[in-house]
Amino acid sequence: MSGINYSEKIPNNVNLVNDRTLQRALEHWQPKFLDWWQHLGPSDFQGADVYLRTATSVDAEGWATYGAVKMPDYRWGIFLADAQKDRTIGFGDSMGQPVWQQVPGEYRSSLRRLIVTQGDTEPASVEQQRLLGHTCPSLYDLRNLFQVNVEEGRHLWAMVYLLHAYFGRDGREEAEELLARHSGDADKPRILTTFNEPISDWLSFYCFTYFTDRDGKYQLKSLAESGFDPLSRTCRFMLTEEAHHMFVGETGIGRVVKRTLEVMKELGSDDPAKIRAAGAVDLPLLQRYLNFWCSSSLDLFGNEISSNSAANFANGLKGRPDESQYEDHVLRSSTFKMNTPAGTEDVPMLNALNEVMRESYLKDCEIGLKRWNRQIERAGFALRLTLPATSFRRSIGAWMGQPVTPEGRMVAKDEYEKRLHDWIPSPEDRAFVHSLMKRVAEPGKMAAWVAPPERGINNLPVEYEYVKLH
Ligand SMILES: [Fe+2]
Ligand SMILES: [Fe+2]
Repeated sequence: MSGINYSEKIPNNVNLVNDRTLQRALEHWQPKFLDWWQHLGPSDFQGADVYLRTATSVDAEGWATYGAVKMPDYRWGIFLADAQKDRTIGFGDSMGQPVWQQVPGEYRSSLRRLIVTQGDTEPASVEQQRLLGHTCPSLYDLRNLFQVNVEEGRHLWAMVYLLHAYFGRDGREEAEELLARHSGDADKPRILTTFNEPISDWLSFYCFTYFTDRDGKYQLKSLAESGFDPLSRTCRFMLTEEAHHMFVGETGIGRVVKRTLEVMKELGSDDPAKIRAAGAVDLPLLQRYLNFWCSSSLDLFGNEISSNSAANFANGLKGRPDESQYEDHVLRSSTFKMNTPAGTEDVPMLNALNEVMRESYLKDCEIGLKRWNRQIERAGFALRLTLPATSFRRSIGAWMGQPVTPEGRMVAKDEYEKRLHDWIPSPEDRAFVHSLMKRVAEPGKMAAWVAPPERGINNLPVEYEYVKLH
């Protein structure tokens, strides 16, 4: 069951060969995907041999098989986690009933919306990152970037499969639209704002994989709870791949911190100007990047009070991440204490689920912060990195446009405007970070602003030639 059929044009473990119509529809979409990859995937590296992992089965042994691959030859396909026998809906008003193998008519448009919104983020991030290869700090990092990119491409496949297989003609049209919208495009942007922010430097890439891919993890976890079983199985498998993306972010930022601390020790100073002159990223600058990407990613969870997420939960379409850890799975009688600019409000729990998710997401974000702060402490410096308050720099919801500091303190509007670049990167900060972005492509060599990783990929040495550029 979990073995993947690689002998077909589209690798899959969904028995595609037995559904000719679906197979033909997807084979029709495949060249459009490849065309999109050529034009909007990583620029200029399509001929390089990249040491990538590819899934050969969805169980623990087979899901990561390593070898040199040219990216356009990557075997993108359709992989679902194995079905759980007699699975029932784990939350909402239909709790305990058997999960659905087909889309219930009354939930069709809500489910389609959830799948399209998730699906849209996958190719968007590939587009955002397409120029990064030119300024890679090492071949190890370049390989990680491409691994993330091909897997986001596969996540697009995962969502397109669901659209084609379960949503008929509208689904096929949505699948076309997923290739028609483009990150940052003035006329046809991607659906969510964060996925239209350009990622033109590697510090942003590490922050994106730390904060934004982690939002992805939380979305996938909540969709993995879905009563629509094919969606649940699809997301469960995607989560295994997603973990690596966050690893790239966490270790990336950790390596920046490590290098900066080395420079601070050499200089005997924490003066940002001196650290910059020595070619490293000062910690206050890193803090501004963290503030920017964390606040931007917090918006992805949506409005604090949401009737949409209440309906999605009550109807069994989208649960909470790790739903089984909660006691109450129906939530018809509990309330949530919500902080709004007007004060604390009691809100029906069902309407507060976006906020519940945002809180558990932030707890997960703290893990890396603790690790980086331990590094700083051990090096004998007083500064600590922090996460901004959830009310800081929000673009949607109750806190939208409110002049709140990263500590969560409301200030006068003009003070906020004046101090904004103490909190998020200024144009000068970005220009400095860009000035560090020079390609380092000799095996084992690292850019001066980032420390080498502790170990290589798949037990290979850090010096391994992870990307052969020819
Ligand atoms: Fe993804
Ligand atoms: Fe990801």
